Amino acid sequence: MLKHASISAADLISPDPHPFKWRMGVKPLSLERWLLVDQERDTDLEEIGRLIDAHRDKIIYCEPSALEGCDELSIEVLQHLRQIDDLKTLEIDDQQGRAPIEAIRRVVQEDLCLLERRPEGWTMTACAVAIPTQWDVPSKYGKTLDVIHEPVPRYDTDLSQPMGTFFDRLRPEAPVWRANRTLTDDPSLRLAPQRRHHPMRDDITIKNVADRVWLRVEYQTLRRLPQSDVIIFTIRILRQNIASVADHPEKLTQLVSSLTKMPNDIRDYKDSTWGHAQLIRQWALSTGRVTKEELNES
Ligand code: HEM
Repeated sequence: MLKHASISAADLISPDPHPFKWRMGVKPLSLERWLLVDQERDTDLEEIGRLIDAHRDKIIYCEPSALEGCDELSIEVLQHLRQIDDLKTLEIDDQQGRAPIEAIRRVVQEDLCLLERRPEGWTMTACAVAIPTQWDVPSKYGKTLDVIHEPVPRYDTDLSQPMGTFFDRLRPEAPVWRANRTLTDDPSLRLAPQRRHHPMRDDITIKNVADRVWLRVEYQTLRRLPQSDVIIFTIRILRQNIASVADHPEKLTQLVSSLTKMPNDIRDYKDSTWGHAQLIRQWALSTGRVTKEELNES
C-alpha cells in the first residue's frame, strides 16, 4: 500500500558545513508529506503496539494542558490519513483508558511530540516516542527545548537562540521539515540510548560494512496547530544499508566526507556513528567508490 512517492534515507541527507556547525536546516513542508505511509505500515504498527504495551511509561507522556492540542492533532491525523484509499474509514481508538496521544501514535508510523509555549520556553508537555534514535525519552518529559538538547555539544552556541526564535515565529500555514542522520549496525526501529556509545562489533569489517551498517535518518516535521496553538514535532525513521546508499555515489561521498570531518566534541557525542564512518571511508576508498580528491584529503 505504498501511497507516497517513496522517500529514501539517502534522499534526505545533506553535507555538513566546513568548519562544522549545527544548522537549523529547516525546509518548507508540503503537507502531503507530513505523515508518510508505506508498505511497512502494518508491520511497523504491530511493533509499535507491542513496544507501547511493554514499555508504556518510557514512551507515553501527557500533561492535562496538552489535551486540547491532542484533540486537534487527532483531527489533523485522521483528515490526513483518510485521504489514502485503504484508510478512508480509519478511526483512532481512544477507549481502553489510553491517553489520546497514545491512541494517535498507534495509527501513525511517526513518533510524536507536542510542545506548548511556557514562560521558560517551548516545553514538551506530551509525547509518544516508541522508536527513539539512541536517546532517553523519559528524561525529556515536561522539559524545555534547551533542557532536552543539553547532551548535544554546541547546542547553546549554534542552536538555542535561533531555535527559540524559530518556534515563536512558526506559522500554521508554513510547516517545515528537517533531517538528522546516524550510522548504526542495528536495523531495529527502537534504538536504546546506550547504543550511541557501543564499541564497534569486531565482526563488522571492511569486507561486510556496506551490508552490515545502516544509514538511519530521522525525517522530522514541525507544524503549529492554529486552535490550540501547540507545535507538533513528528519523527519518522527511514533506513537503508550503506550498499544501497552507494547506488547514489554523490550521497555516499557527501556522507563519508561530512562524517569523517566531525570535530572531536561531536565525535564523542556521535561515538558509534564516527566509528562506523571510519570503516565506511576505508571501504569506499578501497573499492574506488570515492577518491581522496573527492573527500578533499589529497
Ligand atoms: C528546528 C528544530 C530542531 C533542531 C534544529 C534540532 C536539532 C538537533 C540536533 C542538531 C541534534 C543532534 C543531532 C545528531 O545526533 O546528529 C538534536 C538532537 C535531539 N533533538 Fe532536536 N532539534 C529540533 C527540534 C527538536 C524537538 C522539537 C525535539 C523534541 C521535542 C527535539 C529533541 C531532540 C532530542 C531528544 C535529541 C537527542 C538529545 C540527546 O542526545 O539526548 N529536537 N536536535
